[in-house]
Amino acid sequence: MVVSEHSAFDHLDPAYRRFAALPDEDRIAWIRADRWIGFDQAGKALARLDNLLTYPPRDRMPCLLIYGDTGMGKTKIVRKFERAHPPKFCQVKGVDYRPVVVAQVPSEPIERDLYRELLAAMGAPAIAGGTLAREKDICRSLLRTVEAKMIILDEVNGMLAGTFRQQRIFLNAIRFLANDLRIPLVCAGTDLARQALLTDAQLAERFEAFHLTPWQNDAAFVGLLKSFERILPLRQASDLMSADTRTRIHNLTSGVTARIFRLIETAAEDAIRSGRERIDVESFGDGLVLPLVSMTQTRRQRGKRAPHSAIA
Ligand SMILES: Nc1ncnc2c1ncn2[C@@H]1O[C@H](COP(=O)(O)OP(=O)(O)O)[C@@H](O)[C@H]1O
Ligand SMILES: [Mg+2]
Repeated sequence: MVVSEHSAFDHLDPAYRRFAALPDEDRIAWIRADRWIGFDQAGKALARLDNLLTYPPRDRMPCLLIYGDTGMGKTKIVRKFERAHPPKFCQVKGVDYRPVVVAQVPSEPIERDLYRELLAAMGAPAIAGGTLAREKDICRSLLRTVEAKMIILDEVNGMLAGTFRQQRIFLNAIRFLANDLRIPLVCAGTDLARQALLTDAQLAERFEAFHLTPWQNDAAFVGLLKSFERILPLRQASDLMSADTRTRIHNLTSGVTARIFRLIETAAEDAIRSGRERIDVESFGDGLVLPLVSMTQTRRQRGKRAPHSAIA
């Protein structure tokens, strides 16, 4: 199929029409590529982060916990925010100013590893043979040097992999970061992260919570599907928003962002390979390969989840 007239793809957003004209392999590569798709809740979370970043320093800085199930898009939001506030190199001082420092909580909650993660996030070389106190000190002074305006710790639920004692020590370290630096601390993690933070009275008081809730089959969901319809490089108009298709997608994914994205991307690839060039309710028939094991597992976990309440 030779397509020369881009305006033919008027089911697509003008900025994306040219992709629909690409050869199949390129379109599939496009679908598989990493990208950011904005949606209601993600936008609200980003706005909360922006708001915190401009908060004037004071003794007790507000902190934010972004929590939600695995695959709801927490890390995506954090990375998007980090990209919006990239480091700036100062020639004169030779310093990489880094307004937002993002570190991943180590899979075992060891205080020293946390400082190492933060140091690595700031591009510092590893310190060989330093004591814990020294690493903590260097971490603190480097955060000042790069003029960090916010620290974000992702996967905070990793803390729960430790013993009770390790968890207490780790919570102390987090409290230290929140108190000492007078910059807002943001944590991201599952609901378990929220429960862990709640066990520390001081932190519980400090943190506000933002819950990324699973998608409902509602107007916001229609909005998300519409975004997909407008950007996927398919040559025919899809039907994602009709009640049938919507319900099917919602049922297959339990409203988890990562699954919704993967399902639609799989269907889009399929539509290109098969030459159907559109997605509709038939695209989600039995022939579609789905990661069924992970789906049932997560459903079980979600059943066990404690009721939600906001911290603070
Ligand atoms: N805003 C978004 N734009 C594009 N893809 C997203 C977005 N949010 C989530 N995803 C998809 O969902 C997957 C899981 O998101 P992630 O942020 O890692 O979830 P979490 O950290 O909550 O477990 C991502 O790899 C991506 O495929
Ligand atoms: Mg994550």
